Amino acid sequence: MRTSTLEVRAKLAEVARDVLAHSTAGSIRMAPAVMKLDAGLYADQSNHEKECRQLFTRTPLVLAASCELSEPGQCRTMEIAGIPILLVRDNDNVVHAFLNSCTHRGAQLVADGGKAGRFTCPYHGWTFSQSGELVAITLKDGFGDIDFKDYRLVSFPVSERAGLIWGTLDPLSTNNIDDFLQGFDDFLDVFGLDSWRVAEKRILEGTNWKLAFHAHLEFYHVPVLHKNSFGPASSNKALYYFWGPHQRLVQPIDSKRNVDEEHNLYKNADKSEEEWSTESMVLGEWIIFPNVSINLFYDGGAGILISQVVPGASVDESQTIQTFLTADQLEGESRAQVKELSDFLEHVVSNEDLTTSATQQQVLETGLMKTITIGRNEAGIQHFHHWIDRVVSTETNAAAKPFSYEGKWSAP
Ligand code: FES
Ligand SMILES: [Fe+2]
Repeated sequence: MRTSTLEVRAKLAEVARDVLAHSTAGSIRMAPAVMKLDAGLYADQSNHEKECRQLFTRTPLVLAASCELSEPGQCRTMEIAGIPILLVRDNDNVVHAFLNSCTHRGAQLVADGGKAGRFTCPYHGWTFSQSGELVAITLKDGFGDIDFKDYRLVSFPVSERAGLIWGTLDPLSTNNIDDFLQGFDDFLDVFGLDSWRVAEKRILEGTNWKLAFHAHLEFYHVPVLHKNSFGPASSNKALYYFWGPHQRLVQPIDSKRNVDEEHNLYKNADKSEEEWSTESMVLGEWIIFPNVSINLFYDGGAGILISQVVPGASVDESQTIQTFLTADQLEGESRAQVKELSDFLEHVVSNEDLTTSATQQQVLETGLMKTITIGRNEAGIQHFHHWIDRVVSTETNAAAKPFSYEGKWSAP
C-alpha cells in the first residue's frame, strides 16, 4: 500500500492545520481516562520474557539506518532481548541480519562493526561469506564429514524501507513489513534518510525498556526534569497523532528552539499552505513501534537523532542507542556543533531521563508500589501500552501473522 507524494503532503498539511489550531486555542486532545499499570510490567522477569518472545521476535524492528551500512562489507553488531545480531551489506548491496554466532559451537562471530569481506570465527577459525554461507573450516580433512549447506549462519528476514533497515528476530517469520507499516514509511520517506550520514553514535545503559521509552512518549516531564538543560520554559504539552501502533508527537506551541525560519511551521502559519515546506510539516518526534524515536533538528543544518531503546535479556536492563545523522558531510565548525549537540542530548537522556527511570525501577522491584499512573495528557504512553498489551496477549504461532495494523491517522 503506497501513499503518493501528494497524498502524503495533504495528510501532513491536515496534521499541521490541526497543530496550528490547537496552538491558537492553547488546547490539546486527551485520552478518555487515566491509565493505571501494574508494577510487574516493569519488574517481573517472566513478563519480560513474554514481551521478548511475543513482541520483539514477532514485530519488524528498526535495526539500523541504511546509511550506517552505506558500503558493501560494512557491518554493525547489536543485541536485542539477549539476541546477538550481525548486520551486513554484501557486495551485491543486499543487507543481511544474522544471528551473530558461529554455527560450529555458537561463539560470537564478530565483536564490533567495521568492514569485512568474510567473517572468521575467533574460536576455531570457521569462515563465512557476507551472505552467511560457510565457506571454509580449519583442518577440513581432519574434522569429519559435514555438509557446508547445513552450516549457514542463522538468518533473520530483513528489508529496507524509508532509509531504515528493518528485521524480524525470528528466522521463520513470514510477517510482512508492509502489513506492519501500512504506509507509515511513506511519511518517514519524506526525511530522505537514504542519503544522510552517520555523524555521532552513543550507547547509554538504562533500566526496563518501557520505563526508558516512556520519556520519549510525553513532554509532560520536560520543563521539570529538564529544567537545567532544556529550561523551565519548555512546553509540557503534546499533541498526538497515531498511525496504527506508531505515532507522532508535536508541541502545540511556538517552539522555536533548534528550528530555523524555513523549517518552523509556527513562524510560517500566516503564509498560504502551499508555501509551507514539507520539512516544516514533519517537525516533532516520530515514534516507530515498539521502541524507536526519531527527532528532527534544524539548527544551522539538518540533523536527525534516531533513538533505539532495546531491551536486555533481563527485565531491568536496556540500552538506548543514539545515532545522530546529518544531511550533509560536515567538517570544521559544523562538525563541532553536531558533536556538541550530540553530547548535550546524551547528557539529557543519560543523566536526567535514564537516571530518573533507575529510581523508578528500584522501587517497582520492591513490590511496595503496586501501580504507576499515566495521565490523560500522556496519551502517547497509553497508546504504546494498549498496543504492547494487544501484541503480547495475542497467542499465535510465532511464524503466523498475528495482528492487523491500522494504516490511518487517528488521535486520542
Ligand atoms: S565456534 Fe566458531 S569455529 Fe568453533
Ligand atoms: Fe526527557
